[in-house]
Amino acid sequence: MNDKLQLLKGEATHAIEASDTLELLEALRVKYLSKKGEITQIMSEIRNVAPEDRPLFGQQVNELKTYVEQALYDKKQVLEDRKLLTVLETEKIDVTLPGYQLYSGSIHPLNQVIEDLEDFFIGMGYQIADGPEVETDYYNFEMMNLEKDHPARDMQDTFYINDELLLRTHTSPVQARTMLKMHGQPLKIVCPGKVYRRDDDDPTHSHQFMQMEGLVVGKNVSLANLKDALLNMAKHLFGPDRDIRLRPSFFPFTEPSYEVDVSYIKKDGTKGYIEVLGSGMVHPNVLKMGGYDPEVYSGFAFGVGIERIAILKYNIDDIRHFYLNDLRFLNQFKGEIQ
Ligand code: DAH
Repeated sequence: MNDKLQLLKGEATHAIEASDTLELLEALRVKYLSKKGEITQIMSEIRNVAPEDRPLFGQQVNELKTYVEQALYDKKQVLEDRKLLTVLETEKIDVTLPGYQLYSGSIHPLNQVIEDLEDFFIGMGYQIADGPEVETDYYNFEMMNLEKDHPARDMQDTFYINDELLLRTHTSPVQARTMLKMHGQPLKIVCPGKVYRRDDDDPTHSHQFMQMEGLVVGKNVSLANLKDALLNMAKHLFGPDRDIRLRPSFFPFTEPSYEVDVSYIKKDGTKGYIEVLGSGMVHPNVLKMGGYDPEVYSGFAFGVGIERIAILKYNIDDIRHFYLNDLRFLNQFKGEIQ
């Protein structure tokens, strides 16, 4: 091997040994082996070599090239292993450290009641319907047979956005919306949601609360069907030994109308009744406005107060508990339904 090659070999060996990062090693690869690299370039010097020595020279340059390639490769392995070890060392996870305790939330008791009722009614062939909380006077009142000066509007004073827009006072407008959507087809729906009244908050009143409306329209829908649906609902909610009582009442959107009471056993062992919802047979005007011929179709409807059900079910003494977000209250309802 001629001196120059010998020198280059020694220098490259030394430099490769001394480089301690992958970046430095790459720089050496470029220095020796790239197109303009020193070993690549040396090949062009073959011109100056005597013709008979050229094969040997070529062979020696190639050997040097292979040698440097191998040296670079070996060193690269060493540096990569070292790098991996450092990463493993510095990113080591101590699996024995205790983890953070994650607190899981739970479904709000009012939503638990709603989900339970939805399941029950879906099982009975109902569909879930929805409507806006910012409602028009037209759907909230007029379509429910409460025209502009109807005295029963006084019972449902609410928050007005302007003369025509308001926060809905009940879920009943969803009845009208769904009837119009169904274009005269029979329907069975329940619609849960928030409603608003301009009430001062106290243990039994909240300016915002929840209702679930039920509506069934079809041929030959009777009061017996209404009673059956409500009795089954009461038994589902409060237990199989409950029964219900219908008391005549008045709602502009039903005729006849009823308050529905559910039975309970008093402390002295006698039977009492407690009011839980309003209901009735859909008023012919409401059917007509909804696109149904009241001579052919009939229907029943009911409106349940969700807070009222939850209060009775869980023995709660103040409706405001539902809305204060106090975890001491809410954590009691991390029940079966999660
Ligand atoms: N909308 C009534 C209210 O908020 C409740 C109600 C009563 C709904 C009778 C009904 C019904 O669908 O038939 O006071």
